[in-house]
Amino acid sequence: MEWNRALRYKKFDDWSDQDKKELLEKVQHSPWRMDVHIQPRSGLLNDPNGFSYYNHQWHLFYQSYPMGPVHGLKAWYHLISDDLTHWEEKGLALVPDNPYDSHGCYSGSALPVDDKLFIMYTGNVRDADWQRYPYQIGAWMDGANKIEKIKTPLIASQPDHYTDHFRDPQVIRRNDRYYALLGAQNDQLIGEIVLFESEDLSNWSFIGPLNISDQSLGFMIECPNLIFIDEKPVLIFCPQGLDKNILDYRNIYPNVSLIGDQINLDKATFVSNHALHNFDEGFDCYATQAFNAPDGRALAVSWVGLPEINYPTDPYGWAHCLSLVKELSIKNGQLYQNPVRETATLRQDHAQSQGTLDRQSRIIIKDCAPAYEFAINLRGKGSCRLALAKNETQSLDLDIDFQTGMLTLDRANAGVPFSEAYGTARCTTISKDEPLHLQIFIDHSIAEIFVNHGYKVLTARFFPNDDQTQISLRASVYLDYNYDYWRLSK
Ligand code: FRU
Repeated sequence: MEWNRALRYKKFDDWSDQDKKELLEKVQHSPWRMDVHIQPRSGLLNDPNGFSYYNHQWHLFYQSYPMGPVHGLKAWYHLISDDLTHWEEKGLALVPDNPYDSHGCYSGSALPVDDKLFIMYTGNVRDADWQRYPYQIGAWMDGANKIEKIKTPLIASQPDHYTDHFRDPQVIRRNDRYYALLGAQNDQLIGEIVLFESEDLSNWSFIGPLNISDQSLGFMIECPNLIFIDEKPVLIFCPQGLDKNILDYRNIYPNVSLIGDQINLDKATFVSNHALHNFDEGFDCYATQAFNAPDGRALAVSWVGLPEINYPTDPYGWAHCLSLVKELSIKNGQLYQNPVRETATLRQDHAQSQGTLDRQSRIIIKDCAPAYEFAINLRGKGSCRLALAKNETQSLDLDIDFQTGMLTLDRANAGVPFSEAYGTARCTTISKDEPLHLQIFIDHSIAEIFVNHGYKVLTARFFPNDDQTQISLRASVYLDYNYDYWRLSK
């Protein structure tokens, strides 16, 4: 089937029941479905949206094109949880059904206001010439999870001097008023984060672009987030086309974070003495959504996927997943990410061991489950290789060079190749000659690797052939290790 425009934008109701049944069957035959991660029942999942705490539960939505593994007519899919870990699927919640979102309910956010959840998102509209019109739209969800869209757009067009790339509102409350951050492209074709403010959520006025950098950060900024950690403003966003001299990155588009020292939303000023960082040092992480939860935590969840890249699940009628929910903190001026503590509720069958290796290799676990958590302390000389999801011929490899302080995640030999044009390895620095702690989550076709208690994270999809049930270690010189292992299950 060729995914032409007519097919991608065909209304969901115009697909036959037979089409839908065949698609679900295709997905059922897919290898690589996960046990504990959020994945689409069918079709494509992308950005997390509307992540919030409302009516005593966590709410999370994601961008969904349910009819195939391509970017088509986007809707919001809704999930609810008591613990950020076990999610109940509620189905499609926002679907394109009116002149202001006819070509997709694009990304946005949510904020509890009185006894309702206020949703703000981008309505994507195309005319007959395929010219794009972005509308910023509001909706209210009630305690029964019933959503009512506000009839007229909150922001009816982009401000003067901006192109139609204007989307992904994050609505926040601060200083007794509401602000929205939007991803935008100015008429010089430079990406910006722009600010709007409102007293009543109905009337919105343009403040201006947030002055995050003297340099151009690329041609478009998608999915901006502002959160506060220890009172410091932190921005997380996706600067498409960012110059690699400003920040080295390997993925098609980066997802970055920037810790600030001060922000004045009314004046659109942001002061930072920190550098831009990759939010994730792995292969597949984009469109992270973060918010300040009422319990005081700064929480984030990422799309584990990238725009414009084909994945090996495509022939099975689905694509992508969300990351585990992560708690963000700042330590020594650095952004840390750790899986939320509730993730531990997935643990089953604990195993533990330790040992020493002297210029040798050893299979340290023989019968891993397809979904597991593995936490290991490594202290060594020279270098070592941790081979995950391993069988005789394939593995996802972590190479650690204690001497140079370099950690490399290599998926070249991990299964079905994909996205090779962007390289098959990702490197990141660690402290030289220091012990290393890794907390690793493997779930069939995703690895999330937290380095030194959240100092760095490397996220990767990989698509192994089955029966990859081992973990092995190899030491070039000398290695001391101890580990904890749990099978993961919901
Ligand atoms: C980022 C993005 C957003 C947009 C959404 C559409 O992945 O392109 O900018 O709102 O996806 O699905």
